[in-house]
Amino acid sequence: MQLTFYLIKTYLNIMSDLYQKKEEFLFKNQIDRLNSKIKGEQTRRIIGIVSGKGGVGKTVVTANLGLALNKLEGDVTVVDADITASNLGLHLGTYSFPVTLQDVLNRKSRISKATYVTSTGFMVIPSSISVGSIHADVSKLKNTLKKLSGIVLVDSPPGLDKESLKTVNACKEIIVVATPDMPAMTNAMKTIQIAKKMKKDVLGIVVNRYNNDGYELSPDEIEILCGVPTLCKIPEDPEMRKSLFVRSPIINYNIYSKATIEFHKLAARLVSKDYHPPKFLSIKRFLGRFKK
Ligand SMILES: Nc1ncnc2c1ncn2[C@@H]1O[C@H](COP(=O)(O)OP(=O)(O)OP(=O)(O)O)[C@@H](O)[C@H]1O
Ligand SMILES: [Mg+2]
Repeated sequence: MQLTFYLIKTYLNIMSDLYQKKEEFLFKNQIDRLNSKIKGEQTRRIIGIVSGKGGVGKTVVTANLGLALNKLEGDVTVVDADITASNLGLHLGTYSFPVTLQDVLNRKSRISKATYVTSTGFMVIPSSISVGSIHADVSKLKNTLKKLSGIVLVDSPPGLDKESLKTVNACKEIIVVATPDMPAMTNAMKTIQIAKKMKKDVLGIVVNRYNNDGYELSPDEIEILCGVPTLCKIPEDPEMRKSLFVRSPIINYNIYSKATIEFHKLAARLVSKDYHPPKFLSIKRFLGRFKK
C-alpha cells in the first residue's frame, strides 16, 4: 500500500516537473536592473561558441548552456553575433525585438536597450532576422561586450572568414562545437589553431550529435586530433527537433533528456562545480513519454 502511494506520488512529481516551461521575454527594458549590471561589475568571462563548419549546433549549445549556467551561477547573457543568419531568438521562443545588436554595433542604440530579460532572469542580446539588417560593424563587438558583466556567451557565425574572426577576436575564451566526423573535425582543428594564434583561451570541444554507433570519431581521437580537451558529448537526441519546433530550449522542454543532462554537466564543468544528475533517469524518461 505504502509502495503504491510512493509510486503515485513520484509519478505526480515527475509529471509536474515535466511541465514544459517557456522563457518569456519581458519586452519593456528593465533599465535600472540592466544599468547596474552593465555599468557595475567587471565582465568575468566572455566565451565564444564557434565552429569551423556550419550547422553543427552552436546556437543550440549557446541557448542551452546559457540557461544551464544561469541556473547555476546567475548573471548570464547570451549574445547572437551571427549577424547575417541570426536565429538565437527563435531557439528561445521569440524572433521580433524592437532593438537588436545591429542597432548597437551601428551606433543607433545603447546596449541596455538591446538587452532583454527572460522570466527566469536569463539575459539575451538578439540580432535582427530581417534581410534589411545584415550589415553591422562587427569590429565594434569587442568593446560592446566589454560593457557587460557576468558570464557572456557569444553565438558566432560559422567558418573562418574575416567577419567570423572578428567575433572570435571579441571573446576571451573559446568553445568549439563540432560533430564527430572528419569534415567537421578538420575545420574545427583550423579554428582552434587560429584562435590560439589570436591568443584566445581555447577551453575545448563540445562534440555534438554523438551517436556512439562506431561510425564516428571517439572523444579520445578528437582530443588527439585537436589538441584540446573534449568538454562533453551531446548525444543525437530526437527531443531536440521537438524542442526547436515548440521554440523552447531542450533543457526547459525535457528536463530529463540525455542532451539536457549533458548541458548541465558542461555548465558545471565550466564553473568548476559538481553536478549530480537526477536519480532514476530511465524511469523518469519513460514516464515523460506519456506527458507529451
Ligand atoms: N544534439 C542534437 N540532436 C539532434 N539535433 C540537433 C542536435 N544539435 C543540433 N541539432 C539540430 O541541428 C540543427 C542545427 O543546429 P544549430 O542551428 O544550433 O547549428 P549552428 O551551428 O548554430 O548552425 P549555423 O552554423 O547555421 O549557425 C538544428 O535543427 C538542431 O535542432
Ligand atoms: Mg547558429
